[in-house]
Amino acid sequence: MRKFELIAPCHFGLEAVLKKEIIDLGYDVSQVEDGRVTFIGDDEAVCRANIGLRTADRILIKVGSFHAVTFDELFENTKALAWEEYIPSDGKFWVAKAASIKSKLFSPSDIQSIMKKAMVERLKQVYGIQWFTEEGEPYPIRVFLMKDTVTVGLDTTGDSLHKRGYRKLAAKAPIAETLAAALIMLTPWRRDRILVDPFCGSGTIPIEAALMAANAAPGMKRGFTAVRWENLIAKKVWDDCYEEAGDLADWSVKPDISGYDFDPEMIRIAKQNARLAGMEKWIRFEERDIGQLSHKERYGFIITNPPYGERLEEKEAMPALYKKIGERFGALDAWSLYMITSYEEAEKDIGRRADKNRKIYNGMMKTYYYQFMGPKPPKADRGKADGLEQRN
Ligand SMILES: C[S@@+](CC[C@H](N)C(=O)[O-])C[C@H]1O[C@@H](n2cnc3c(N)ncnc32)[C@H](O)[C@@H]1O
Repeated sequence: MRKFELIAPCHFGLEAVLKKEIIDLGYDVSQVEDGRVTFIGDDEAVCRANIGLRTADRILIKVGSFHAVTFDELFENTKALAWEEYIPSDGKFWVAKAASIKSKLFSPSDIQSIMKKAMVERLKQVYGIQWFTEEGEPYPIRVFLMKDTVTVGLDTTGDSLHKRGYRKLAAKAPIAETLAAALIMLTPWRRDRILVDPFCGSGTIPIEAALMAANAAPGMKRGFTAVRWENLIAKKVWDDCYEEAGDLADWSVKPDISGYDFDPEMIRIAKQNARLAGMEKWIRFEERDIGQLSHKERYGFIITNPPYGERLEEKEAMPALYKKIGERFGALDAWSLYMITSYEEAEKDIGRRADKNRKIYNGMMKTYYYQFMGPKPPKADRGKADGLEQRN
């Protein structure tokens, strides 16, 4: 079976979470760099990674990497890559994205057009044709330059993996589904524990948690560019991987997951998104202000993405809002609070120092993931759910 080097880009700060996911899927990680994890796998790995990884942005097949500081070097080294191993003579190929950091070559459009020319030259010689109709399947290329090292990958994914297909309606400041999944994975929350997002917006965190509770692969309902690459991945391999994802999902669990927001429009959107995700039965969405947050049970988790106060008119409201978060959290018995925000005074206004704090980039914005950990429940209280406990 042909082995590929596969590159999975992710949000900066989530590399360790993604690495664990890849290892759990059964693959060997060969390299972890800022914003991406490289691993080794065959055609089946391409399918399983696309369908199953919750925190990767996409999956690229590494075509090669080389050093280039001039456009001549870029051209020659691109031409030297074995493109014919990936792209058939009728394939449609182009450099869909070029990104450059700390490198001599930095103009994306120049990099894109020179690489395309080099690929055409190579394939002309190999296939013995002068003109490419490009009427076949799409083979988009992504390239990133870091300190003059050019890494070239074939994009197997297409629409970014954060697009699970359920978030058709937009919220004010939605968090990426991949980031929401990572935030949950960074906690000890398991499906037998209570989870509340009191600032749920379009419902991303509760919906991702419900998908995890059901062991439902995030990509099981969507397609990928490489589904069309029969020259590289047989259709049966894809079919088997989709089927495997279906078999692994467990629809019998009854997790205790809630999402609240003070904006009725957000609750409407969250419910609609949960319906699209097939998760509406499992999440309780209600219109509630943070001031109304309470729960009679012990040992629950708040995992949330509150307003950051980035906009000037919102800024003034932040001290009172975070003070309220601190009060309501303090009134809960033995709960844990996990909160992502860029608001610098979060700990001060909440009135407690976080036990742990992790820097994560939410897009281009530097945020912190504050972790206020509650006590572990006694053994007898653990594992109550998993289908055994009915929700009230
Ligand atoms: C950053 S957004 C959350 C986005 C969400 N994670 C998503 O993916 O859509 C913050 C949310 O907090 C809500 N919010 C603001 N103040 C609130 C309050 N006092 N009580 C409850 N919700 C509030 C807003 O309506 C908004 O939907």
